[in-house]
Amino acid sequence: MSYASTALSKATTLLTLKKMKENKQKFVTVALYDAPMAAMAEQSGVEVILVGDSLGMTVLGFDSTVPVTMEHMIYHVEAVSRGTNKCLIMGDMPFMSYATIDQAMRNAARLMQAGAHLVKLEGGEWAADTVKQLSDRGIPVCAHIGLTPQSVNKFGGFRVQGRDKDSAQQLIKDAQVLEAAGADILLLECVPDELACEISAQMRIPTIGIGAGRDCDAQVLVINDILGLTAQPPKFSKNFLLESKDIPDAMANYVQDVKNGAFPADEHIFK
Ligand code: KIV
Repeated sequence: MSYASTALSKATTLLTLKKMKENKQKFVTVALYDAPMAAMAEQSGVEVILVGDSLGMTVLGFDSTVPVTMEHMIYHVEAVSRGTNKCLIMGDMPFMSYATIDQAMRNAARLMQAGAHLVKLEGGEWAADTVKQLSDRGIPVCAHIGLTPQSVNKFGGFRVQGRDKDSAQQLIKDAQVLEAAGADILLLECVPDELACEISAQMRIPTIGIGAGRDCDAQVLVINDILGLTAQPPKFSKNFLLESKDIPDAMANYVQDVKNGAFPADEHIFK
């Protein structure tokens, strides 16, 4: 796999993603944190870069995303935005940076001014008003539901969500309410594949899955997992470097496998 065949030819926008969903074309997201990796993602045909608060664990050495601050996020969004002008950049709102509408407005504006094209925040129905207020003021939002790692202390660990009927119904409702509030993308983390499939089919907005089966409109993986840098990789991830000749090849193979439906395979899916 070489860059030339996969490089993005034009800038990705929310409209691009919407059209891809309509045309049943999968798009690809990578969570990464610096300029050289962003440039490589663009060359490999990755449409969306998530500057995730996972950087707390993958880069900064914390044991959860809870200690991540706005300053950490801004520093890495700025770095990523210097590496690409064709990938859509999604900046994660860190823990407690959107606890009130006022904080959400101020902090989302800071991420957009640092180079993000949209923000991502974790939360279900309760976050709908925040999504609406941001959206009404021109800030696109990706709403992240299912396993929301900022709530790890509430969940009591990193666990698959929506396994029983009530919690599955709640996730369906969360998705509907967030879309109605103006969310532009829905990210589903660690939910059973059938539930993710049902939610994706109902949504007009694109869905991005991680540990959410193969029926979402896109997949996201963390760059450290793609490159085999994680000591105990999650079940839903895959080390693409193992069967690639170098790092650019690993990223290009990830892109290709998502687009042709080879990733995720059965062993990466929660039933
Ligand atoms: O922070 C992050 O990288 C994320 C992904 C794991 C979805 O939220």
